Amino acid sequence: MIIMSGFYIEKRGSSLEKVSQNSATLDLLARGDGAEVLLQEIEADKIIQISSPNRPSVMEFFYILEGSITWLKQDGTSSEISAGDYFYINYFKGKEHLKTNEITKILYVSTEPIFHHISYVIKDFMNMINQVEEKDYYTHSHGKRVQDYASRIASKMGIAGESFERLMYASLFHDIGKIKMDDSILNGKNYPTEREWEEIQKHPIFGREIIEKSLLRNIGEIVEQHHERLDGSGYPYGLKGDKISLEARIIAVIDAFDAMTTDRSYAKAKSITEAVGELKSDAGVKFDEDVVDLFIEVLEEEGLYNDN
Ligand SMILES: [Fe+2]
Ligand SMILES: [Fe+2]
Repeated sequence: MIIMSGFYIEKRGSSLEKVSQNSATLDLLARGDGAEVLLQEIEADKIIQISSPNRPSVMEFFYILEGSITWLKQDGTSSEISAGDYFYINYFKGKEHLKTNEITKILYVSTEPIFHHISYVIKDFMNMINQVEEKDYYTHSHGKRVQDYASRIASKMGIAGESFERLMYASLFHDIGKIKMDDSILNGKNYPTEREWEEIQKHPIFGREIIEKSLLRNIGEIVEQHHERLDGSGYPYGLKGDKISLEARIIAVIDAFDAMTTDRSYAKAKSITEAVGELKSDAGVKFDEDVVDLFIEVLEEEGLYNDN
């Protein structure tokens, strides 16, 4: 299992990642099962807007540690919230405005990850994956496509919480290790030589190495396994069956499909029907059968494929 578990004590000033945005500093203190705990420090006289932009079901909790805030109510009146007070939203579709009276520190807990919108790590990884996809013209938007399909399959499988989050990041960044490969190998005009093939097979390990140094370290294993196959014929380690994580088995199916159905520098794209045919014949052998079935269902719903 790759769920991070354990008892952690961190000293003041240590955080997973710190970012400054507008007039606030945010420290990501802890994350787990999709939830995040942040420390916010906001300058005086700043307006904070409280709203739930994503899903209204998210619970957001704010505890004032230091300083004070004025709640600017819709009816024109106001009230003060100060150290020791707290407020939270749940199933909230409205908007509220608050103003800091002085430098204010708030402990913020969210049941859905929001930090990734502003995280430097995610931005770095996005830059790297864009570079990879630019170098290899044929893989343009490949990560995004794999992620989109992965989220469709995940909702059919009832994958939620931390596992869903891991799948989303891992599918988007699965080929990040290609950043370390020579450009000539990435867009070689011919089918890769044996030496080039050896080099290509290292990208899942490179990917894990890059990711393990970041706050997304818990997706390292999935990234490393995305070319493994159930029968042990994959790389880099030839892992078999459920030694390969479910998230990696999901990515493997979509990744193979996307590779088959887009033009490669050395091979023309196959038709969707041909590609589905290959997935079907490898279902239960190389690919997870349930994942293949659900993926075909998704393609049918998209009107891209008809099983009859
Ligand atoms: Fe890959
Ligand atoms: Fe890929």
